[in-house]
Amino acid sequence: MAKIIDGREISAAVKQQIKEDVVSLYKQGIEVGLAVIIVGDDPASKVYVANKEKACEQLGITSYKYALPAETTNEELLSLIEKLNNDKKVNGILCQLPLPKHLDEKLIINSIVPEKDVDAFHPQNVGKIMIGDFDFLPCTPAGVIEMIKYSGIEMSGKKCVVVGRSNIVGKPMAMLLLHNNATVTVCHSRTVNLKEECANADILVVAIGKAKFVTADMVKEGAIVIDVGMDRDENGKLCGDVDFDSVSQKAGAITPVPGGVGPMTIAMLMKNTLTAAKKQNSK
Ligand code: GUN
Repeated sequence: MAKIIDGREISAAVKQQIKEDVVSLYKQGIEVGLAVIIVGDDPASKVYVANKEKACEQLGITSYKYALPAETTNEELLSLIEKLNNDKKVNGILCQLPLPKHLDEKLIINSIVPEKDVDAFHPQNVGKIMIGDFDFLPCTPAGVIEMIKYSGIEMSGKKCVVVGRSNIVGKPMAMLLLHNNATVTVCHSRTVNLKEECANADILVVAIGKAKFVTADMVKEGAIVIDVGMDRDENGKLCGDVDFDSVSQKAGAITPVPGGVGPMTIAMLMKNTLTAAKKQNSK
């Protein structure tokens, strides 16, 4: 049976450190603030946003929530973001994705000033990640790296396979593994011999959004398996992209869903918000 990499435990340790830093800033008269924007009624997004607000509350970070109706226009959203860009109390701005179809996601993301872009989605921050000169790391990939390091797993020289090539997870994940000196392969829906590619991995990171897609025959004996998926199985139960029951019999270590990568993503968002507050107050 694989070692379970416990995201709740690791995120608690990360958050404890953040809380101490938030308190220390507060003593210097600096309050840390995060604005969270949600447009429409997507149930999953509502849960994610509620979890982000809860984490802010736990850590002494002030959260400013903007729940906007699904009919909100680009102009209305841009005008809110401009107001938040200029609000000194707001250190970080997060616009929960996906946005309703009629909204221009690229335009909206680009309108958040890079200094407050705690998701690290703005092209300027994406570019900085590429060259290894970053202020913020994208939350989910950063959370994965933190889990790997915390578990004492070496990345240098290892064969890492990332399944998924999204801008939010797959692409930045590959870049961060590369910064940690791993040899990285990115697989996706058009990859030929996906099974063989996955079975070559010392560290396998799966982010494709398909319930229980990765089965034991796709995993090398003793491999480290990181499951970024948040899916529902045939009974509507929360599960990941990895078939935990079979893969955990073969892997060396594995992250569960829930209780794996999810809590780490939120901890990294809090860390980025703290970094933003520190930088904005050091000028
Ligand atoms: N939707 C799914 N994941 C994320 C995330 O990390 N940030 C934002 N803003 N939206 C998301």
